[in-house]
Amino acid sequence: MVNGSQNGSLNDVVRDQDGFARSTPLRGRVVVITGASSGIGRATARELARQGARLVLAARSTSALHDLAAELGDDAQAVVCDVTDPLQIDALVRETLERFGRVDALLPNAGVYLPGPFRENDPSDVARLIDTNLTGALRTVRAFLPAMIERGAGDVLITGSVSGHQPIPWEPVYSASKHAIRAFVHGLRRELAPFGIRVGAVAPGVVLNELWNAQDDASIAAGVRDRTGIRSEDVADVIAFMLTRPPHVTIRDLVVLPHAQEI
Ligand SMILES: NC(=O)c1ccc[n+]([C@@H]2O[C@H](COP(=O)([O-])OP(=O)(O)OC[C@H]3O[C@@H](n4cnc5c(N)ncnc54)[C@H](OP(=O)(O)O)[C@@H]3O)[C@@H](O)[C@H]2O)c1
Repeated sequence: MVNGSQNGSLNDVVRDQDGFARSTPLRGRVVVITGASSGIGRATARELARQGARLVLAARSTSALHDLAAELGDDAQAVVCDVTDPLQIDALVRETLERFGRVDALLPNAGVYLPGPFRENDPSDVARLIDTNLTGALRTVRAFLPAMIERGAGDVLITGSVSGHQPIPWEPVYSASKHAIRAFVHGLRRELAPFGIRVGAVAPGVVLNELWNAQDDASIAAGVRDRTGIRSEDVADVIAFMLTRPPHVTIRDLVVLPHAQEI
């Protein structure tokens, strides 16, 4: 393997002896993660930092974000941001560009969960879910696009769900939001390909974390042992894999499930 120039962009590839691009390292790349205060976002921040990425960590929980930024060191910046508020998204873009001058990868990952039945869902919870999982992701992408298009390279990698690949009857609103994300990703991938920007989604099954109130090590270990759940760290590994593919490779949809999930 032969290293490229290592300036931290999607164009910066590792080539094999025949000259073919094999991967794009994360070292130096500027990655924005929404929903970074817990679960998949936090685990992804840790893994990407370990691989040398520079990070902007966004969520609403001020202290959790600042703790994570402190843990990850000088190359991580916390920005408190509610993705349902367009002004806060604009501020996130501004602070990212002021601090790092660019964005190489955008990970709209913030999300909330709402189980059914729909007839019992509070309409305000339904509206909040759509505003976070769908509109929040769309407005995050829209706000960062001018800078990414100007740069002519980068990744948009949204956290979808297996619930966006098949309708799941016990979570109809959540499933609808993730189906919409998948359709958006498929269209946006084609739209942004001419600008050098890759678009994809990671679609996990059950991830044992805060979303399920599974925060203690024992219950996570039990789910891993009987293979009914995966860990946030397992998803982080998948995200790192997707981001490090060489520029001619796009993973549009990657479904990652616990071995025993009956779905
Ligand atoms: N856990 C699973 O089984 C599973 C499976 C498939 C897909 N997913 C998806 O994975 C993504 C991450 O969820 P998770 O599993 O990591 O659960 P989580 O630990 O509950 O994380 C959700 C994250 O979203 C943030 N968030 C929620 N509302 C927000 C808002 N309005 N503005 C900004 N940030 C907001 C939360 O931070 P604050 O509360 O601090 O804002 C938190 O950091 C979600 O899109 C979820 O749908 C999860």
